[in-house]
Amino acid sequence: MASRHQLGEPVVVVEGVEKSFGSFSVLRDVSLTVRRGETVCIIGPSGSGKSTLLRCINGLVPISKGSIKLAGREVNDAKLDKLALRRDVGIVFQQYNLFPHKTALQNVMMAPIHVLKQDKAEVEERARKLLAKVGLSQKLATYPGELSGGQQQRVAIARSLAMNPKVMLFDEVTAALDPETKKEVLVTIQDLAAEGMTCILVTHEMGFAREVADHVYFTDGGVIVEHGSPAEVFGNPREERTKGFLDKVL
Ligand SMILES: Nc1ncnc2c1ncn2[C@@H]1O[C@H](COP(=O)(O)OP(=O)(O)O)[C@@H](O)[C@H]1O
Ligand SMILES: [Mg+2]
Repeated sequence: MASRHQLGEPVVVVEGVEKSFGSFSVLRDVSLTVRRGETVCIIGPSGSGKSTLLRCINGLVPISKGSIKLAGREVNDAKLDKLALRRDVGIVFQQYNLFPHKTALQNVMMAPIHVLKQDKAEVEERARKLLAKVGLSQKLATYPGELSGGQQQRVAIARSLAMNPKVMLFDEVTAALDPETKKEVLVTIQDLAAEGMTCILVTHEMGFAREVADHVYFTDGGVIVEHGSPAEVFGNPREERTKGFLDKVL
Protein backbone atom coordinates (compact mmCIF):
# COMPACT_ATOMS: atom_id res chain seq x y z
CA MET A 1 0.00 0.00 0.00
CA ALA A 2 2.86 2.32 0.81
CA SER A 3 3.52 3.36 -2.77
CA ARG A 4 -0.12 3.78 -3.82
CA HIS A 5 -0.43 7.28 -2.51
CA GLN A 6 1.82 10.04 -1.36
CA LEU A 7 2.13 10.53 2.39
CA GLY A 8 1.55 14.05 3.61
CA GLU A 9 2.36 15.99 6.77
CA PRO A 10 2.17 14.38 10.22
CA VAL A 11 -1.45 14.14 11.41
CA VAL A 12 -0.84 12.34 14.71
CA VAL A 13 2.41 12.81 16.64
CA VAL A 14 2.75 10.87 19.89
CA GLU A 15 5.91 11.64 21.86
CA GLY A 16 7.14 10.07 25.07
CA VAL A 17 3.65 9.24 26.27
CA GLU A 18 3.19 7.64 29.68
CA LYS A 19 -0.11 6.53 31.08
CA SER A 20 -0.81 5.06 34.49
CA PHE A 21 -4.02 4.02 36.13
CA GLY A 22 -3.16 4.62 39.77
CA SER A 23 0.22 3.00 40.29
CA PHE A 24 -0.29 0.69 37.31
CA SER A 25 1.75 1.79 34.32
CA VAL A 26 -0.06 1.00 31.05
CA LEU A 27 1.95 3.01 28.49
CA ARG A 28 5.64 3.75 28.85
CA ASP A 29 7.57 6.13 26.62
CA VAL A 30 5.35 5.53 23.61
CA SER A 31 6.16 7.54 20.48
CA LEU A 32 4.68 7.25 17.03
CA THR A 33 4.01 9.45 14.04
CA VAL A 34 1.26 8.98 11.49
CA ARG A 35 1.30 11.01 8.30
CA ARG A 36 -1.62 12.07 6.19
CA GLY A 37 -2.70 9.17 4.00
CA GLU A 38 -0.75 6.64 6.03
CA THR A 39 -2.16 3.37 7.35
CA VAL A 40 -0.56 2.29 10.60
CA CYS A 41 -1.31 -1.04 12.26
CA ILE A 42 -0.70 -1.70 15.94
CA ILE A 43 -0.35 -5.34 16.88
CA GLY A 44 0.48 -7.02 20.15
CA PRO A 45 -0.84 -9.27 22.89
CA SER A 46 -3.95 -8.47 24.85
CA GLY A 47 -3.30 -6.05 27.71
CA SER A 48 -0.35 -4.37 26.04
CA GLY A 49 -2.03 -0.96 26.03
CA LYS A 50 -3.27 -0.74 22.42
CA SER A 51 -6.81 0.39 23.24
CA THR A 52 -5.52 2.81 25.85
CA LEU A 53 -3.22 4.38 23.27
CA LEU A 54 -6.11 4.92 20.83
CA ARG A 55 -8.23 6.40 23.62
CA CYS A 56 -5.39 8.77 24.51
CA ILE A 57 -5.12 9.87 20.87
CA ASN A 58 -8.76 10.90 20.72
CA GLY A 59 -8.69 12.46 24.16
CA LEU A 60 -10.98 9.95 25.87
CA VAL A 61 -8.19 9.14 28.33
CA PRO A 62 -5.85 11.86 29.64
CA ILE A 63 -2.12 11.04 29.49
CA SER A 64 0.20 11.17 32.50
CA LYS A 65 3.25 12.48 30.64
CA GLY A 66 4.45 13.32 27.13
CA SER A 67 2.63 14.88 24.23
CA ILE A 68 0.04 13.95 21.62
CA LYS A 69 -0.48 16.34 18.75
CA LEU A 70 -3.35 16.09 16.35
CA ALA A 71 -2.94 18.21 13.23
CA GLY A 72 -0.44 20.29 15.23
CA ARG A 73 -2.66 20.82 18.28
CA GLU A 74 -1.93 19.33 21.70
CA VAL A 75 -4.74 16.89 22.52
CA ASN A 76 -4.28 17.35 26.27
CA ASP A 77 -4.30 21.13 26.19
CA ALA A 78 -7.14 22.10 28.53
CA LYS A 79 -7.98 24.96 26.15
CA LEU A 80 -8.41 22.66 23.17
CA ASP A 81 -11.93 22.59 21.83
CA LYS A 82 -13.03 19.04 22.64
CA LEU A 83 -15.71 19.20 20.00
CA ALA A 84 -13.12 19.94 17.33
CA LEU A 85 -11.10 16.99 18.57
CA ARG A 86 -14.10 14.66 18.44
CA ARG A 87 -14.77 15.80 14.91
CA ASP A 88 -11.18 15.32 13.75
CA VAL A 89 -10.69 11.84 15.20
CA GLY A 90 -13.11 9.10 14.25
CA ILE A 91 -12.99 6.02 16.42
CA VAL A 92 -14.68 2.69 15.82
CA PHE A 93 -14.72 0.01 18.49
CA GLN A 94 -15.40 -3.70 18.61
CA GLN A 95 -18.87 -2.83 19.97
CA TYR A 96 -20.64 -0.67 17.42
CA ASN A 97 -23.13 0.96 19.83
CA LEU A 98 -25.58 2.09 17.19
CA PHE A 99 -28.81 3.65 18.36
CA PRO A 100 -31.26 0.73 18.19
CA HIS A 101 -34.34 2.86 17.56
CA LYS A 102 -32.77 4.77 14.66
CA THR A 103 -32.37 3.51 11.10
CA ALA A 104 -28.95 3.13 9.51
CA LEU A 105 -29.41 6.49 7.77
CA GLN A 106 -30.54 8.22 10.98
CA ASN A 107 -27.60 6.76 12.90
CA VAL A 108 -25.17 8.26 10.38
CA MET A 109 -26.98 11.63 10.40
CA MET A 110 -27.24 12.07 14.18
CA ALA A 111 -23.93 13.64 15.14
CA PRO A 112 -23.54 16.05 12.21
CA ILE A 113 -27.05 17.39 12.90
CA HIS A 114 -27.12 17.39 16.69
CA VAL A 115 -23.47 17.95 17.54
CA LEU A 116 -22.20 19.95 14.56
CA LYS A 117 -25.58 21.62 13.86
CA GLN A 118 -25.17 21.09 10.14
CA ASP A 119 -27.94 21.48 7.60
CA LYS A 120 -30.19 18.44 7.59
CA ALA A 121 -30.59 18.11 3.81
CA GLU A 122 -26.84 18.33 3.25
CA VAL A 123 -26.15 15.86 6.04
CA GLU A 124 -28.65 13.43 4.57
CA GLU A 125 -27.10 13.63 1.13
CA ARG A 126 -23.68 12.94 2.59
CA ALA A 127 -24.99 10.12 4.80
CA ARG A 128 -26.51 8.39 1.78
CA LYS A 129 -23.20 8.62 -0.06
CA LEU A 130 -21.31 7.26 2.94
CA LEU A 131 -23.68 4.33 3.33
CA ALA A 132 -23.26 3.64 -0.39
CA LYS A 133 -19.50 3.75 0.06
CA VAL A 134 -19.65 1.07 2.77
CA GLY A 135 -21.95 -1.02 0.57
CA LEU A 136 -25.23 -0.38 2.39
CA SER A 137 -27.34 1.62 -0.08
CA GLN A 138 -30.04 -1.02 0.27
CA LYS A 139 -30.18 -0.70 4.06
CA LEU A 140 -30.81 3.00 4.63
CA ALA A 141 -34.14 2.45 6.37
CA THR A 142 -33.10 -0.68 8.25
CA TYR A 143 -32.75 -0.75 12.03
CA PRO A 144 -29.55 -2.11 13.63
CA GLY A 145 -31.37 -5.15 15.01
CA GLU A 146 -32.10 -6.27 11.46
CA LEU A 147 -28.52 -5.92 10.28
CA SER A 148 -25.71 -8.47 10.55
CA GLY A 149 -22.76 -7.66 12.79
CA GLY A 150 -20.66 -6.77 9.78
CA GLN A 151 -23.36 -4.49 8.40
CA GLN A 152 -23.74 -2.77 11.77
CA GLN A 153 -20.01 -2.27 11.91
CA ARG A 154 -20.08 -0.69 8.45
CA VAL A 155 -22.84 1.67 9.60
CA ALA A 156 -20.61 2.55 12.56
CA ILE A 157 -17.76 3.31 10.15
CA ALA A 158 -20.04 5.49 7.99
CA ARG A 159 -21.23 7.25 11.15
CA SER A 160 -17.64 8.12 12.05
CA LEU A 161 -16.87 9.26 8.52
CA ALA A 162 -19.89 11.58 8.62
CA MET A 163 -17.91 13.87 10.94
CA ASN A 164 -15.33 14.23 8.19
CA PRO A 165 -12.42 13.21 10.43
CA LYS A 166 -8.74 13.79 9.73
CA VAL A 167 -7.87 10.35 11.06
CA MET A 168 -9.78 7.15 11.73
CA LEU A 169 -8.96 4.86 14.64
CA PHE A 170 -10.13 1.26 14.50
CA ASP A 171 -9.94 -0.82 17.67
CA GLU A 172 -10.28 -4.52 16.81
CA VAL A 173 -13.41 -3.75 14.82
CA THR A 174 -13.69 -7.26 13.38
CA ALA A 175 -12.92 -9.19 16.57
CA ALA A 176 -16.55 -10.01 17.31
CA LEU A 177 -17.57 -10.86 13.73
CA ASP A 178 -17.88 -14.20 12.01
CA PRO A 179 -15.50 -14.86 9.11
CA GLU A 180 -17.78 -13.86 6.21
CA THR A 181 -18.88 -10.54 7.65
CA LYS A 182 -15.35 -9.88 8.90
CA LYS A 183 -14.18 -9.85 5.32
CA GLU A 184 -16.65 -7.17 4.18
CA VAL A 185 -15.60 -4.88 7.02
CA LEU A 186 -11.92 -5.39 6.24
CA VAL A 187 -12.57 -4.61 2.57
CA THR A 188 -14.35 -1.41 3.62
CA ILE A 189 -11.36 -0.34 5.69
CA GLN A 190 -8.97 -1.30 2.94
CA ASP A 191 -10.92 0.87 0.46
CA LEU A 192 -10.79 3.81 2.86
CA ALA A 193 -7.06 3.40 3.30
CA ALA A 194 -6.57 3.12 -0.47
CA GLU A 195 -8.51 6.36 -0.94
CA GLY A 196 -5.99 8.07 1.29
CA MET A 197 -7.83 8.22 4.63
CA THR A 198 -5.30 8.31 7.46
CA CYS A 199 -5.93 5.21 9.56
CA ILE A 200 -4.62 3.71 12.78
CA LEU A 201 -5.75 0.13 13.19
CA VAL A 202 -5.43 -2.10 16.19
CA THR A 203 -5.98 -5.56 14.80
CA HIS A 204 -5.42 -9.24 15.32
CA GLU A 205 -5.86 -9.86 11.61
CA MET A 206 -2.21 -10.33 10.76
CA GLY A 207 -2.73 -11.07 7.06
CA PHE A 208 -4.76 -7.91 6.74
CA ALA A 209 -2.21 -5.82 8.66
CA ARG A 210 0.54 -7.12 6.45
CA GLU A 211 -1.41 -6.22 3.33
CA VAL A 212 -2.77 -2.76 4.19
CA ALA A 213 -0.25 -1.25 6.58
CA ASP A 214 2.37 1.24 5.52
CA HIS A 215 3.92 0.83 8.95
CA VAL A 216 3.46 -1.70 11.76
CA TYR A 217 4.03 -1.22 15.49
CA PHE A 218 4.40 -4.17 17.82
CA THR A 219 3.52 -3.38 21.43
CA ASP A 220 3.94 -5.50 24.53
CA GLY A 221 3.61 -4.56 28.17
CA GLY A 222 2.97 -0.89 27.46
CA VAL A 223 6.02 -0.29 25.27
CA ILE A 224 6.61 -0.26 21.54
CA VAL A 225 8.96 -3.19 21.16
CA GLU A 226 9.66 -2.58 17.49
CA HIS A 227 8.20 -1.00 14.40
CA GLY A 228 8.84 -0.97 10.70
CA SER A 229 7.40 -1.87 7.35
CA PRO A 230 5.16 -4.96 7.26
CA ALA A 231 7.95 -6.81 5.48
CA GLU A 232 10.34 -5.95 8.32
CA VAL A 233 8.06 -6.65 11.26
CA PHE A 234 6.32 -9.74 9.87
CA GLY A 235 9.05 -11.06 7.61
CA ASN A 236 12.13 -10.33 9.64
CA PRO A 237 11.34 -9.33 13.23
CA ARG A 238 14.37 -8.22 15.23
CA GLU A 239 13.09 -8.72 18.76
CA GLU A 240 12.50 -12.05 20.48
CA ARG A 241 9.20 -10.80 21.90
CA THR A 242 7.95 -9.99 18.40
CA LYS A 243 9.05 -13.37 17.11
CA GLY A 244 7.35 -15.11 20.02
CA PHE A 245 4.09 -13.25 19.43
CA LEU A 246 4.09 -13.86 15.67
CA ASP A 247 4.89 -17.54 16.19
CA LYS A 248 1.75 -17.79 18.30
CA VAL A 249 -0.63 -15.90 16.04
CA LEU A 250 0.52 -16.67 12.50
N1 LIG B 1 -9.66 2.49 33.03
C1 LIG B 1 -8.74 1.61 33.43
N2 LIG B 1 -8.41 1.48 34.74
C2 LIG B 1 -7.46 0.61 35.13
N3 LIG B 1 -6.77 -0.19 34.31
C3 LIG B 1 -7.05 -0.11 33.01
C4 LIG B 1 -8.04 0.77 32.48
N4 LIG B 1 -8.07 0.62 31.14
C5 LIG B 1 -7.16 -0.32 30.83
N5 LIG B 1 -6.54 -0.77 31.94
C6 LIG B 1 -5.48 -1.79 31.99
O1 LIG B 1 -4.44 -1.37 31.13
C7 LIG B 1 -3.86 -2.47 30.46
C8 LIG B 1 -3.90 -2.24 28.98
O2 LIG B 1 -5.24 -2.32 28.56
P1 LIG B 1 -5.68 -2.07 27.05
O3 LIG B 1 -5.20 -0.73 26.62
O4 LIG B 1 -7.13 -2.35 26.98
O5 LIG B 1 -4.83 -3.20 26.30
P2 LIG B 1 -5.08 -3.90 24.90
O6 LIG B 1 -6.03 -3.06 24.12
O7 LIG B 1 -3.71 -3.97 24.28
O8 LIG B 1 -5.61 -5.26 25.18
C9 LIG B 1 -4.62 -3.70 30.91
O9 LIG B 1 -3.89 -4.33 31.94
C10 LIG B 1 -5.91 -3.13 31.44
O10 LIG B 1 -6.45 -3.95 32.43
MG1 LIG C 1 -7.83 -3.53 23.29
